[in-house]
Amino acid sequence: MSDIGKSLIQFIDESQHNEPSSTGALTSLMTCITGACKEIAGLVKHSPINGLNGIAGSENIQGEVQKKLDIITNDVMVKHLSSTEHLAAMLSEEVDEVINIPNGLPKGNYLVAFDPLDGSSNIDVNISVGTIFSILRCPAGVKEPTAVDFMQAGTDQVCAGFCVYGPMTMMVVTTGNGVNGFTLDSELGEFILTHPEMTIPEETAEFAVNMSNQRFWEPPVKRYIDECLKGADGEREKDFNMRWVASMVAEVYRVLTRGGIFLYPLDTKPKTQGGKLRLMYEASPMSFIVEQAGGASSTGLKRIMAIKPEGIHQRVPVILGSKKEVERLVSYHQERY
Ligand code: AHG
Ligand code: MN
Ligand code: MN
Repeated sequence: MSDIGKSLIQFIDESQHNEPSSTGALTSLMTCITGACKEIAGLVKHSPINGLNGIAGSENIQGEVQKKLDIITNDVMVKHLSSTEHLAAMLSEEVDEVINIPNGLPKGNYLVAFDPLDGSSNIDVNISVGTIFSILRCPAGVKEPTAVDFMQAGTDQVCAGFCVYGPMTMMVVTTGNGVNGFTLDSELGEFILTHPEMTIPEETAEFAVNMSNQRFWEPPVKRYIDECLKGADGEREKDFNMRWVASMVAEVYRVLTRGGIFLYPLDTKPKTQGGKLRLMYEASPMSFIVEQAGGASSTGLKRIMAIKPEGIHQRVPVILGSKKEVERLVSYHQERY
């Protein structure tokens, strides 16, 4: 029987019943995450009315100017996630150090890393933004997790997902058994399964990259994009289309629905050395989702899921999407290095 129409919580709960070791913790965690995302969807939707657009006047650890909504949505995530008894600690793009569960509240065996508002440069111009999360196990015996306890490879993730606040509010989730997409029914207040078993087409003629950084890229990326731009007149013998939303959530959602390659490659600008996107709450969870949907994800030199983090806010180059295109760009790196 088709699962279409089931709520996200019912879907996760039923899939957990098939796991003999299941304790219900993941269902409970997902209830908190969906609760937070519903609240954030409402905040984003009404933000100008409530004076929530614009900058907060502070910077995060990466030196980025924080928007008011970066800080508010971070607080919403922390509030909802603190109330589950299954978390040992949290990690957020907007907070320098690991966030502990407030004293007196019950703790559990999981860790969560999140980007509370991805694409926040788009918020004031009414373009899609989102929330990204990655759930890890807390190492056995650790009661007060520190940064090192979060530094696990992407392959150790238990669950990853993201919510896009666009024309539709949609949540995409994987627990390592395929990828499913849910649409928020705001009347019911529930995420409903609308996109079961999402898969990324292997081939594509669409790329997404911030072209303004072209002169700073490394040769393999320059070569790949040059070939796409030459289109039917070059070695690719077909025309390519380009998109750049500047919200990773929207780009990955597009790749999941109609294929494509998304890249934020290494560039030589001093500020972005090491790449722009953050491993633990952007690259890693998105790579888990993309691989589970049949796509590929790499830095150009290494599978992102295999990287063991060296810092909780570490950045990495990201190349993800349709398998054949990612493999082509990886082969250009291998030829060169
Ligand atoms: P965030 O808003 O969480 O800092 O993330 C923004 C990221 C990502 O979503 C997007 O792909 C990229 O930064 C956009 O970068 P440019 O502004 O360089 O286009
Ligand atoms: Mn982000
Ligand atoms: Mn963010």
